[in-house]
Amino acid sequence: MIYDIVRPFLFALDPETAHRAAISALQTGLVPRPAAAADAGLRRTVMGLEFPNPLGVAAGFDKNAEVVDAALALGFGFVEVGSVTPRPQPGNPKPRVFRSVADGALINRLGFNSDGHDVVYARLAKRAPHGIVGVNLGANKDSADRVADYAGGVTRFSDVASYLAINISSPNTPGLRDLQEKDGLARLLAAVAEARERAARRVPIVVKIAPDLDDDALAAMCEAIVAARMDGMIVSNTTVSRAGLSDARIAAEAGGMSGRPLFAPSTAMLAKVRTIVGSRLALIGTGGIHSVATAREKLAAGADLIQLYTGMIYEGPELPGRIVAGLLRH
Ligand SMILES: Cc1cc2nc3c(=O)[nH]c(=O)nc-3n(C[C@H](O)[C@H](O)[C@H](O)COP(=O)(O)O)c2cc1C
Repeated sequence: MIYDIVRPFLFALDPETAHRAAISALQTGLVPRPAAAADAGLRRTVMGLEFPNPLGVAAGFDKNAEVVDAALALGFGFVEVGSVTPRPQPGNPKPRVFRSVADGALINRLGFNSDGHDVVYARLAKRAPHGIVGVNLGANKDSADRVADYAGGVTRFSDVASYLAINISSPNTPGLRDLQEKDGLARLLAAVAEARERAARRVPIVVKIAPDLDDDALAAMCEAIVAARMDGMIVSNTTVSRAGLSDARIAAEAGGMSGRPLFAPSTAMLAKVRTIVGSRLALIGTGGIHSVATAREKLAAGADLIQLYTGMIYEGPELPGRIVAGLLRH
């Protein structure tokens, strides 16, 4: 595999610089082209959208919609761009992404570095419509009205997004996850639903949650999301836990942990959510997928669709093609 040769060079770089290099490589078309991406055996209709296969690239990989078509060409059945904030913002000071190679994990505290609604919208509007492209919405750090930030995102992206994701689970914007709590959540979802009603097209909306909620909070959230007539949930974002991380130096970094150690807790939570919501919501299972086996386990736990990001850093750009081919074989 060519990635066996490339990986040491990328891993010699700061993780964020390596990511920038990967995005540049994708922009120049240096990508493997798997064959099985759109086999009829993997097609599924979820939230009224027809997905060529159930594996998507998770938010954070292409925050600013720079490589949507290249990501689809890697074999992904859908791409979720973002998180996008209304106004452009730089995010937290660098360094802000840390690898734990031994654990197949990452800690990031990017803090919604974003080109902002206008630039990301223009990029999406310019491309020939093709494939399923979700837009993940965030809020500005210095926003006076975060509810308005999300509602504004719904209004702005309804005509270019296949679906929208409301990300209130990033651990890296102070106070953001308070929106997951009861009163705040009801108010937020009402504003989001109202913005959708006003838009020309009824775009499906999913809510992305943290894996760090206790059972009561989780049940309350699920019911609020169903009651607000949302279409689905993404389970889950990164965790503030450091369980499963062997590198104490990396564990001491603030931020959200993704990758292999997140697989078990996020999959257990996904199964709980499926039990609570039954067939009332579509579920996107995200967290720690790094192989055909983990992809299958996530689906078996109740996911209609799955996403990955960190696994590709360790396994390389052939991972999506390999997983899709593996799902097809089973
Ligand atoms: C570097 C990095 C940046 C991320 N940025 C975002 C983001 O902007 N919005 C979001 O909803 N999730 C973001 N995520 C979380 C991922 O979408 C995903 O939920 C999480 O990483 C778990 O999946 P994984 O273990 O396959 O990476 C980010 C993850 C990483 C590693």
